[in-house]
Amino acid sequence: MMDMESLIRAAKEAREKAYSPYSNFKVGAAVMTPSGKIYSGCNVENVSYGLTNCAERTAIYKAVSEGEHSFIALAVVADTEGPVAPCGACRQVIAEFGIEQIILGNIKGHTKILSLEEILPYAFTKNDLA
Ligand code: THU
Repeated sequence: MMDMESLIRAAKEAREKAYSPYSNFKVGAAVMTPSGKIYSGCNVENVSYGLTNCAERTAIYKAVSEGEHSFIALAVVADTEGPVAPCGACRQVIAEFGIEQIILGNIKGHTKILSLEEILPYAFTKNDLA
């Protein structure tokens, strides 16, 4: 059984590190490998706004750059009314690594668990390149 609480906690902790001086919107994310290892990340903004990297991609890219390619779940947390939704770009990156369980959350503790198919139906995948 996946330790969902630890993953959400890691996302919340990473959120505290957000570099978001332009939006003042802090986001944290964390991914879990099949062995239970957790990698977390925050959003990193830039004065050239379009260069901003979302928390989800920071967490995934940190893990990939440590040699991980397989993930069983991703959690994302922000200070939103309801559970925060990943942006479209992050959904495509989540699909790249086939992360099947996506936990949307907020700092109040509301959560919603969605599948990859639910967050990105009709995804463009590596099968389409074959
Ligand atoms: N952001 C994320 O980090 N993840 C999301 O799922 C939604 C948006 C960031 C990008 C930007 O730094 C700020 O939130 C406002 O869009």
